[in-house]
Amino acid sequence: MADFTPRVFSGIQPSGGLTLGNYLGAMKRFVQMQDAGTHETVYCMVDLHAITAELAAPDKLRSRTRELCAAFIASGIDPEKSILFNQSQVPEHAQLGWIFNCVARMGWMQRMTQWKDKAGKNAQNASLGLFAYPALMAADILIYHATHVPVGEDQKQHLELTRDIAAKFNHDYGVDFFPITEPVIEGVATRVMSLRDGSKKMSKSDPSDMSRINMTDTADDIAKKIRKAKTDPEPLPEALDGLTERPEARNLVNIYAALAEIPAQSVMDQFAGQQFGTFKPALVDLAVDKLGPIGSEMSRLMQDQAEIDRILARGAERAREIAAPVLEQTFEIIGMVR
Ligand code: TYM
Repeated sequence: MADFTPRVFSGIQPSGGLTLGNYLGAMKRFVQMQDAGTHETVYCMVDLHAITAELAAPDKLRSRTRELCAAFIASGIDPEKSILFNQSQVPEHAQLGWIFNCVARMGWMQRMTQWKDKAGKNAQNASLGLFAYPALMAADILIYHATHVPVGEDQKQHLELTRDIAAKFNHDYGVDFFPITEPVIEGVATRVMSLRDGSKKMSKSDPSDMSRINMTDTADDIAKKIRKAKTDPEPLPEALDGLTERPEARNLVNIYAALAEIPAQSVMDQFAGQQFGTFKPALVDLAVDKLGPIGSEMSRLMQDQAEIDRILARGAERAREIAAPVLEQTFEIIGMVR
């Protein structure tokens, strides 16, 4: 493979209500990769993706995009160190997305489990955009020739598709142009589960707000949700193996470990033999301690909308410096007259 600049890309949908799952599975890891300084880091609010499921009120989409930008910054993304922008301000994403619609095969797209879950029984009525969603996601990544993509486990299949699209394009045109991107799905929090049901992912679309912790929850909300989180009557075991059949307990231990930045086994070492009556208050303290300052910083940043818009515009400018030449070369390879 050709030598590609080590570059991280990832995105989050501004579809409202960031959860602890988004924070631990994505945002927190984005910050770690930025601070490691080993890669260029490019992070995006994918507003074009956010309209595939529903066309929300325009004011809502605008405020959710700005709120997501505030969440990135409050979590530790530095818009000077990383490129931080929203997708629709960089038209190259949609342009390359179209080309990938012509590379990807219907069969590949039909196998996407998120498509099947989201379209459900009503696939005939789902938007064409929802079906094409993963091809646009491949374009998001490959327009930057990104080599690494940190995501939660639910995005794994989309990243495999991204690799398939890059490989087919390279093969069909006999080039070594797009990198075969590596997914980075690491750590204890790649799949944070619902607080009410350990077999379901924590999600902003769950009808019960008690199933998730939102990044903007107050300390009281966080305490109430953790206190009421489903567990079992057993004490915490000494080794992680003892949690295999206890998904809710395992989830709370993983959340603790991710927030404290320690291995899950260290949590067991600390709490073995203790009941949830002791563990839960410790988790509340930790969660409030870590999330509280992020929530207040988000509200502070949201008061200066013009500054957020300036940051996004500047981010888009920097993103286009990478994206525009890649699109030009792609057109060249395909044979578009320029
Ligand atoms: P989205 O907006 O649903 O979620 C953003 C990120 O949060 C992760 N995540 C979780 N991680 C752990 N536990 C959970 N319960 C949990 N819930 C969400 C997701 O895995 C994701 O990393 N298709 C993407 C957005 C996207 C994208 C991209 C990502 C568009 N283009 C290019 C990477 C690269 C999505 O809908 O994520």
